[in-house]
Parts: sequence; C-alpha cells; structure tokens
Amino acid sequence: MPKSVPVLCGSIASRPSVLGVAMHNAAYKAMGLPFTYVAFGIENTREAVLAMRYLGIRGLGVSMPHKIEIMQYLDALDEIAAKIGAVNTVVNDGGRLTGYNTDWIGAMRALEEKIDIAGKRSVVVGAGGAARAIVYGLVSKQSQVTVYNRTIRKGEKLAEDFGVRFGGGLAELSSIKDYDILVNATSVGFNAPEESVIPSSLLREGKVVLDVVFIPPRTKLIQDAESRGCIAISGIRMLVHQAVYQFELYTAKQAPFEVMEKALLEAIRTVA
Ligand code: ATR
Repeated sequence: MPKSVPVLCGSIASRPSVLGVAMHNAAYKAMGLPFTYVAFGIENTREAVLAMRYLGIRGLGVSMPHKIEIMQYLDALDEIAAKIGAVNTVVNDGGRLTGYNTDWIGAMRALEEKIDIAGKRSVVVGAGGAARAIVYGLVSKQSQVTVYNRTIRKGEKLAEDFGVRFGGGLAELSSIKDYDILVNATSVGFNAPEESVIPSSLLREGKVVLDVVFIPPRTKLIQDAESRGCIAISGIRMLVHQAVYQFELYTAKQAPFEVMEKALLEAIRTVA
C-alpha cells in the first residue's frame, strides 16, 4: 500500500458511536498516518462486509448487533475470536478479511495494570459476548474463574465452553466467600448511573473490580467499589486498550496510548 494513498478504517454498528472515531483519528493525526476512521450506522451485516471488500476498507470495528453474524462472511477467523465466538475487529489484507477479538486483550491489559492475574480467583458476572471474551482471557492467564449469570442456562453454557465453574444466578453473589478479581460483564449500569448487579457487601478492601460498562465512566459499581476501598477499573480503560490493539492491527505501528486515552475521555463527555 503506497504511503500517500489515503486508507479508510471505521466501525459498524446499528447505532454508530463517536468514541472509536475520536480515538483512532487522534492517533492517526499524532502519528502522521494517511488514515481516516468513520463510524457507519449499518443494519445489514452481510452488505457491510461486501462494502468493506469493494471499497477496500482496511479495518472495521464491529459492534452490536453484528459481532456474531459477521463471522460467517469472513475469509478467516483468528483462533481466539473463534473460541470466544465473537468478532469485534476485521482486518482486510489485500482482499482477505480476517476476524479478531480485541475485547479480551483490552480487559486483560486493563487488569494487568493493577494485578498479576495468574493464580488469582476471579468472579465474572454475565454470560454475553463481553463475558465470553473476559472469561477466555482470564483462563488463558491461569486465573480460577467462577461465572454467575441471571439466566442460568446461558451461564452454565459459558462455564462449560471454557472449562470453568458456574456459581449460579445473581442471588448467589451474596454468598461468595472470597475472591481477588471481580468483573461486571453485564450491560447493567449502561446509561443507568443508579444501577449495579453487584451487591456492595461483596466489594471488599483491596479487591480488584472491573466494570465493562463505560457510560457513564463512573458507574454505580465503580463508585461503590471506590468507596469500599477496592481497586476499581472503569470500562474506559478496557475500551482504550482494545482500541490500541485495533490500531496496531490496522497500521502495524505502536499506538500512541495517551493520545487515544485523552481523545476518548474528551469524546465521552459529549455522550455520557
Ligand atoms: P454483550 O455482548 O455486550 O455482553 P449480551 O450478549 O446481550 O451483551 O449480554 C448481556 C449480559 O448482561 C448477559 O449476561 C445478560 O444476562 P442474561 O444472560 O440473563 O440475559 C446481562 N444482563 C442484561 N441485563 C440484565 C439485567 N437487567 N440484570 C441482570 N443481568 C442482565
């Protein structure tokens, strides 16, 4: 790809988000790269993949509701994305489209800033795509994971797929004795600053608590965790780390982390 030719990247979602646009374009600008990032509001997954092929779009971030359906239209799946069962990033290498999952890396990098994961006991609440990515990551880092989920069958299936323990429904959370890492991987709290699925009695001093929810940046869970002396990690941190990894997949260059984080924090003020 000649350096002077503009390169297009973007994201597809039924409701396009400005956050990726802000982070990626700020990074391209800081690095002097001839890339542009656009958010496409798209309903039809198959047609979005065709557009990527025909327009020669280099990379696409994939959000709701495309993360699972898109897998069947790609030429290759990264082994980990296949195991997680969801693709949030597609890279176009000269017409060959490969699906990746950067959510798990984002979550692990955010956790690893605060704790050495190996050998630690983790509690993951949720059993959707985000939970699957995080459970994969924790297992790959040798954590002992227990999953809880509102819908029992879905939680059991996730636990079985990744060879971890299923602890039960949300009512069982209050009977947890001890843990090192607690992750809210449900969507509860998203745009709902009064809501959390985690009973505050479970939040104990010194424990690491990660919330995948990033709007608002300080969710009820994050506020509860901080007030009880936990090491609280906002979903913002996971979001910027996964975008950094996307940037590196698209450009093959090391991402300017601080630039992307600053752009994200500025952009989130406009949507939160
Ligand atoms: P994602 O791909 O973003 O993880 P998802 O697949 O829709 O989204 O999964 C959402 C998760 O949040 C699920 O674990 C869901 O629980 P169920 O499996 O019982 O549906 C959980 N969730 C969503 N709303 C919830 C609520 N009000 N209370 C408890 N859990 C909820």
